[in-house]
Amino acid sequence: MRLKGYHAETIMKKPFIVGNWKMNLTLKQGVEFARLLKNGLKGKREVLCGICPSFVFLSEICKILEGCNICVAAQNVHSETNGAYTGEVSALMIKEVGCTHVLIGHSERRHIFHETDSFINAKIKTALSVTLKPIFCIGETLEEREAGRTKDVIQSQLKGGLRDIHADQLEELVIAYEPVWAIGTGKTALPGQANEVHSFIRNIVADEYGKDFAANLYIQYGGSVKPENAKELMAQPEIDGLLVGGASITFESFLKIIEAVSKD
Ligand code: 13P
Repeated sequence: MRLKGYHAETIMKKPFIVGNWKMNLTLKQGVEFARLLKNGLKGKREVLCGICPSFVFLSEICKILEGCNICVAAQNVHSETNGAYTGEVSALMIKEVGCTHVLIGHSERRHIFHETDSFINAKIKTALSVTLKPIFCIGETLEEREAGRTKDVIQSQLKGGLRDIHADQLEELVIAYEPVWAIGTGKTALPGQANEVHSFIRNIVADEYGKDFAANLYIQYGGSVKPENAKELMAQPEIDGLLVGGASITFESFLKIIEAVSKD
């Protein structure tokens, strides 16, 4: 376990490694993966770990992982609690099947499905209302980075997503910084580049919610994380965890990432 964060001298954080399977795997493969993960992580206490399967696998996978230390997260949630929203899934439904976390504001939701900051804000509020922990994703596009707008974009996504939410409601919030240009492209942000944005995020959170809150906040990095670069990314003082896409859909490479960050 390493010292991390804003007050690096006082905060101890275990790396929090989450695999986002996106729209991949069959139920059979997902179940097999969950069983292997449960066995593979037995006795490994130095890392926190989670997976985000498809909605239709959640119930089955939560049953397999019940009682062990692996979080299961949904990949999305609707902002309304119930009603005539054909095809949508509510926070309570996700909670009821056994999930502890939910991804909110993933760049694929923002860019392919045109989700806005205010919709994302409503989703975060709804998730919190049933004690489902949001993994709130933010990140700039290549165009925005090249135009020198990274910090503006990050700040406005953060403020928009967390509008009118108080620190005491946000205890279990996780933020994932995922630069859009690094997602699924093989181009990872340089560890220093990612660290700089993480530090910027932590400072905004400190201004808004206080330094202690910011120091305890988990900020994950996501975007072409692989077994080969995981350790170097996690060695950055402001990176508390990883949100892994492509390299999380085979058990072998996901386990290699977990092993890479557990060895110091
Ligand atoms: P890749 O690891 O495939 O780049 O995806 C990252 C991501 O979107 C995780 O949520």
